[in-house]
Amino acid sequence: EKGTYPHYMLKEIDEQPGVVRKIVQNYEDEEGNLVIPSDIANALHDADRLYIIAAGTSYHAGLVGKQYFEKMAGIPVEVHISSEFGYNMPLLSEKPFFIFISQSGETADSRQVLVKIKELGHPILTVTNVPGSTLSREADYTLLLHAGPEIAVASTKAYVAQVAVLAIVAYVEAQAKGKALDFDLKAELGIVANNIQTIVDHKEDMEHVAADFLETTRNAFFIGRSIDFYLSLEGALKLKEISYIQAEGFAGGELKHGTIALIEDGTPVFALITQKEVSLNLRGNVKEVTTRGANACIISMEGMEEPGDTIVLPPVHPLLTPLVSVVPLQLISYYASLARGCDVDKPRNLAKSVTVE
Ligand code: M6R
Repeated sequence: EKGTYPHYMLKEIDEQPGVVRKIVQNYEDEEGNLVIPSDIANALHDADRLYIIAAGTSYHAGLVGKQYFEKMAGIPVEVHISSEFGYNMPLLSEKPFFIFISQSGETADSRQVLVKIKELGHPILTVTNVPGSTLSREADYTLLLHAGPEIAVASTKAYVAQVAVLAIVAYVEAQAKGKALDFDLKAELGIVANNIQTIVDHKEDMEHVAADFLETTRNAFFIGRSIDFYLSLEGALKLKEISYIQAEGFAGGELKHGTIALIEDGTPVFALITQKEVSLNLRGNVKEVTTRGANACIISMEGMEEPGDTIVLPPVHPLLTPLVSVVPLQLISYYASLARGCDVDKPRNLAKSVTVE
């Protein structure tokens, strides 16, 4: 039930700190160590490459997950859009391990891939929010998101849950491989939960950002580098699906290879800056667009902010920034949708789970 909330989406955004805490509780053992079931850990440990298959927002979570597995655990990962993978399958490694990410567990595009992979006999893990869903029943293993029902068509808390669960799985596998990890993921996720809370407690700031940047625009761009690039894809998807503003996410460096032609006076460009090693490059990209008239909304992380940045995010571990940087993007989309009189929870032409290929 949405209780006193005007929309499910806002309620689900607000629930995110609790979702992160609940995931930690569900993935810790009696001693308080993060764990995953041993059969899943063993199957994962045997793999030489992971294949993450998903659609939409779940695909964007998968892109972040790739960084986790590669950077923490040193396992190569491919992330594929399910509707493409089924008909254009890449050459597989010798010991592939498949991870299907799906909030609903019912997405037909992902299911058709799962059926094919099952025929090939490769191990399959489904990461889903819905126990007993089709993708969960048909996989060898399931990990649950514990996000509670997500009703709004725009996925919010499921994304945060997917990223958090993938971080835990990668961390546990990294430990099993004896990798030197210089941080305590459980403690860091606690900081993430608190910092998401700070952002949702100040949501009116995002309402102002939406009014300043998106009130009348026809289009908008999101840019970022490295992990922030994946967030720019998610920010654009969220905005377009509920506000009908044409939005695109780009790697900061790619913009000048064509898309910059679209920048006009007043074009909103949301720039994400949460990664130190690329922050100066992204600042350079912001300059490229502002010189051409763009209205840049800079979302930076504390520690790399500059005077004039629009939003400064409370700091978290560099790998976990997606869990906090996504929240202003969700809220900005929410308020843009509201201001434009759109149906926030049930945007036109869309269904919560897409059960056709
Ligand atoms: O239930 P799934 O995670 O498999 O759904 C995948 C996409 O259809 C879904 O994420 C969609 O992109 C959302 N409406 C995005 O907010």
